[in-house]
Amino acid sequence: MCGIIGYTGSSQALPVLVQGIRLLSYRGYDSAGVSIWNDGSLRIRKDQGRIEDLAPRWNPDELAGTAGIGHTRWATHGVPNMPNAHPQHDAGEQVAVVHNGILENDLALRERLEGEGVVFASDTDTEVFAHLFARSFEGDAVAAARSLLETCHGAFALAIQHASLPSTLVAVRRGSPLLIGLGVRENLVASDLRPLVGRADAVIELGEDQIALVTPDSVRLFGADGGEVEYATRPIDHSERDIGKDGYPHFMLKEIHEQPDRIYELIASRVDAERGAVRLDDVGITDDQWRRFERVDLIGCGTAFHACLYGAYVLESIAGIPARAVMAHEYEARAPRLNDRVLAIALSQSGETMDTKIAAQAAIDGGAHTLGVLNVRQSVIGRAVHGVLDIHAGPEVAVASTKVYTQMLCALLLLALRASQARGGDGRHLQELAPALKRLPDDVRAVLGRFDGVREAARDVRRAGDMLFLGRGYDAGTALEGALKMKEISYIHAEGYPAGEMKHGPIALVSREMPTVAIATEGPTRDRMIGNVREVRARDGEILLVATDGDVDAEKLADFVLWVPSVHPLIAPVVNVVPLQLLAYETARLRGCDVDQPRNLAKTVTVQ
Ligand code: AGP
Repeated sequence: MCGIIGYTGSSQALPVLVQGIRLLSYRGYDSAGVSIWNDGSLRIRKDQGRIEDLAPRWNPDELAGTAGIGHTRWATHGVPNMPNAHPQHDAGEQVAVVHNGILENDLALRERLEGEGVVFASDTDTEVFAHLFARSFEGDAVAAARSLLETCHGAFALAIQHASLPSTLVAVRRGSPLLIGLGVRENLVASDLRPLVGRADAVIELGEDQIALVTPDSVRLFGADGGEVEYATRPIDHSERDIGKDGYPHFMLKEIHEQPDRIYELIASRVDAERGAVRLDDVGITDDQWRRFERVDLIGCGTAFHACLYGAYVLESIAGIPARAVMAHEYEARAPRLNDRVLAIALSQSGETMDTKIAAQAAIDGGAHTLGVLNVRQSVIGRAVHGVLDIHAGPEVAVASTKVYTQMLCALLLLALRASQARGGDGRHLQELAPALKRLPDDVRAVLGRFDGVREAARDVRRAGDMLFLGRGYDAGTALEGALKMKEISYIHAEGYPAGEMKHGPIALVSREMPTVAIATEGPTRDRMIGNVREVRARDGEILLVATDGDVDAEKLADFVLWVPSVHPLIAPVVNVVPLQLLAYETARLRGCDVDQPRNLAKTVTVQ
């Protein structure tokens, strides 16, 4: 996942590009660079590293100019280094290109160009675009851009500059999203809204295989056939306002603490307690369709997949629909039987995860009805599926997903309740759960107030090399999610397992050096979980226990207890994950890790 920014207007481009790169660096931060038109030439500065470290080295006097493009990279082709950083350019530096996506036929094109005498300076697929554009440009930028669309296969969003076009940016879009921000005597190009909020008043979304010529005073769109096309604009919703840390040391901690409010808003907006009904009519599934569905496939990656596990449980147990969770990248391989009696639900924070998009498209092509449970409605997946349930978590900047996970769980629970209503349920589930749903924000808030207990446990586990996370039933996914949080930000090797698996192998791992986190809160699985805890204790293993307030028997078995309030077992996973989010956060902080932008990761993975 990479981020593109372009600016042409009446201000100096460099500060706008640097700020844009900073706001886009959640998409990848291996390297960054800019190209600025200055006195007939393109001034290019780029290197490995993060924008915070690179920008101070760029001399504004050398990079004066009011038109430029910028890029922040998550490496796919070629290691993170200066030659592979974007902008990529042709040998004569007449053309500069920044790119998000994958050029699938780059090897064939590279060989063809090398056969024609082109010498490549990088290992990137992007450099191919620069050479092709330079070789086909004869003054008509649209014609040169069209030649890229005719020659290149794959998914790519491009912003291009040519030295002979002082204030013009050329934008090309196939697959990967690209937006054009409309300002006053200035216009911008960007991968997503973040760099546009507060600068542009309205936005255009470039369509598939479209080309745009962007200058300070005009934006013209062209189709692949070269014909000029009309376009629609939409105002930028200023709730998508630029986001800061609001006083928290890290975005991740801020987003963990946002959960009570986000959960409250979602539930309050969807549950009509007086009428005992869940309102989800805007997701595009009729009662008749709910009654006709014979299976639900829940599809996602990483944290989203863990939410799928919970969703399958609640759809089956509450709505009585057979349901299964499938990792998006495994979906097609399973050759699922698809028809209009199947509901495929794609879970995604970004709405741009390529694996999930491909799986959703397979479901669409197979005739299934599709629903996106997303945090970004205006996204590649959001535009592909039949309907969207927006989880309204708000922008999530930290690479490690937290508030999005609990929002996904709540959204899936509401969906199951709605499905139950439609399929003739007597409403008892909602009656039973309504009080617990009403208390849920306060239950989460209570856990957030117990950070001292987490800090004490984190001081202990910070030195661990390995950890085991165990849960059962609805909390099996919680264990996987807790392990993912720990591994991806503290770099401790953490494994999550359904606790029933212990006897079938993992118990061989138990030792004093490997802390085991066990979720044993009140409910149908508690006693068996306590049995697992005893197995670990019997082998001198260290125990961190997520337990319900007052469970003194459980407390006796634990080295550390992460207490949670008494919560309905079906809703418990929303609460039980919170101490695990905090444990991962504090452990990573104590280990000096970069909590918000962990090594090797990116917030959105738009490559397979
Ligand atoms: C979550 O902490 C990870 N950053 C990662 O597993 C993420 O959940 C996964 O890449 C899916 O992303 P999406 O929700 O944007 O599709």
